[in-house]
Amino acid sequence: MGAKMLLKPSTLAFAIFSAILIDRALMLLFLPRGIIFWSSIGIVLALMLVPLLARLKRILIVILAIASIAEILNGILQTALFVIIYSQLLILLSGVTAILLGISGVILALELEEVTRRSPLQVTDPEFAVVLENVHKHYYTGTVSVHALRGISLRIRNGEFVAIMGPSGSGKSTLLNIIGALDRPTSGKVYIDGVDVSKLDSDGLAELRNRKIGFIFQAYNLINRTTVLRNIEMPALVAGVPKKKRVENARRLLEIMGLDETALKRRPVYLSGGQQQRVAIARALMNMPAIILADEPTGNLDSKTGAEVIGYLRKLNKELGITVIVVTHDRSVAEKADRILHIRDGMIIREEMLNVGEKSEREAG
Ligand SMILES: Nc1ncnc2c1ncn2[C@@H]1O[C@H](COP(=O)(O)OP(=O)(O)OP(=O)(O)O)[C@@H](O)[C@H]1O
Ligand SMILES: [Mg+2]
Repeated sequence: MGAKMLLKPSTLAFAIFSAILIDRALMLLFLPRGIIFWSSIGIVLALMLVPLLARLKRILIVILAIASIAEILNGILQTALFVIIYSQLLILLSGVTAILLGISGVILALELEEVTRRSPLQVTDPEFAVVLENVHKHYYTGTVSVHALRGISLRIRNGEFVAIMGPSGSGKSTLLNIIGALDRPTSGKVYIDGVDVSKLDSDGLAELRNRKIGFIFQAYNLINRTTVLRNIEMPALVAGVPKKKRVENARRLLEIMGLDETALKRRPVYLSGGQQQRVAIARALMNMPAIILADEPTGNLDSKTGAEVIGYLRKLNKELGITVIVVTHDRSVAEKADRILHIRDGMIIREEMLNVGEKSEREAG
């Protein structure tokens, strides 16, 4: 992380900026100066302060930009003075320093502006776990293009339980994969926990998927070569959690999911469908995600087992406040949710609010 930040132009700019500022302050105080020493302090300061500074408001960025441009002009003027009149090395040095300071300031201002612009929702809308704005998805296969999502906009609150229903091919899985950052939209914006997903690099995306989101699939997607315990541990292994803690958490989760200790050492394929899906839920919970995305989690189960599995998801949602988004064909599964989004031909055509004791319905606008 540190090495990566060092390479950023803004960090270098800030280092130079800080070093020169300190250098000047010292000049005023008539203290001894050593540019290398102070540059290193500048770099350290920059590494510490850039994320902090990013939180400052636009106005400071504008002031910084104006001051920096003034500094560049000042530098040019001094350099010109050196050439035209004085020919004193000190004036040249001071001119060049001012230009450098100014350029660093401008780079820093641009970078800060970018960082502030990047995630406006983080500041304004912390209550939404998922926000989609006019999302389109085209799949191109050879000469054929499929317009799988056609302008999806939605907001899902933290702690909400939402079901997505719609005919086969209507774009449900595509939508879920985009929310889970498994796939990118062709156009439109996706914010997960206030973070603009399009701005994340591959490391950032992997981190988001591993730490914030738990996935559950119709086909369980468990690894049958290894034990239930290893399956559940997997996300924590990727996240670098120590072995003792992993095993401890896996056991606890298995217990929460109503499976006994003996299941841990077996391979998933020898468990029933309902048990396998509960193992998959335990795996999805391993890193305590804020959001669980489930694509037809009860699709392979009989209705009784399906109801049990959905019951577990509802419990996790209520007791731990985990946001749950479930794609389903099954009306009785969808009715466990707070809200049902109906999608057809890649668009949300209807939204149903399901509250205890009352039901309301409205056309999506
Ligand atoms: N990887 C892909 N390449 C090309 N087309 C795709 C791809 N994935 C999905 N599609 C197409 O996009 C459309 C939406 O597919 P999607 O899988 O999202 O539908 P779905 O609602 O999940 O359907 P189902 O209920 O059958 O799972 C379909 O027309 C599908 O053929
Ligand atoms: Mg699907």
